[in-house]
Amino acid sequence: MLKITQLAHLLVRTCFAEPSSGSPLFAIDATVGNGYDTLFLAECVGENGMVFGFDIQDMTVAHAQLAKRGLAKRITLFQAGHETMLSHLTHSTEASVSAIMFNLGYLPSGDKALVTTRQTTLAALSQSLVLLRHGGILSIACYPGHPGGEEETNAVLVWAKALPHEEYGVLHHHLLNRQRTSPELVVVQKI
Ligand SMILES: C[S@@+](CC[C@H](N)C(=O)[O-])C[C@H]1O[C@@H](n2cnc3c(N)ncnc32)[C@H](O)[C@@H]1O
Repeated sequence: MLKITQLAHLLVRTCFAEPSSGSPLFAIDATVGNGYDTLFLAECVGENGMVFGFDIQDMTVAHAQLAKRGLAKRITLFQAGHETMLSHLTHSTEASVSAIMFNLGYLPSGDKALVTTRQTTLAALSQSLVLLRHGGILSIACYPGHPGGEEETNAVLVWAKALPHEEYGVLHHHLLNRQRTSPELVVVQKI
């Protein structure tokens, strides 16, 4: 069975399948952590593209991984909360970002006190819709199993369900035969 992070990659990859018009491709990793999604997005955007990464913790590990693969030129990391993403990016990125990935919760190998919260996540999701291009994909991996995680997951689901269906397609993936607290994936595509 695919993990939700693998499923997120499969779905996000589809919005890079069309040949690009020649203008640079943009993507955002809203929760860089160790940089697995950043690395994936850096490959997707190609050599002329740019990935903007956000995390409130130090991203040296992620940066080292990207440098090792020769992809450091394709990323700009901000040690800042994703709820500030709009203020860090120029107007030229509005309605131009192909993919935005959130992997909520905390980094198991990092500081577990640095955990995403319902309030900041909702603020960042609203900003993501401003940045997403038509056809672009927003993926949100949710973890209801840790303290605060269920409240955050429910808030994401309520937010996603309320998106107007003429403007957004919304998918919710969760395993029916697992614990209620197993990870869930929400994917939003701007039509
Ligand atoms: C599950 S981890 C992300 C894992 C990451 N995608 C990877 O490939 O390693 C969640 C991350 O969210 C970060 N985080 C918590 N609150 C945040 C916020 N307000 N803005 C940005 N990142 C935040 C944590 O520091 C942690 O690194």
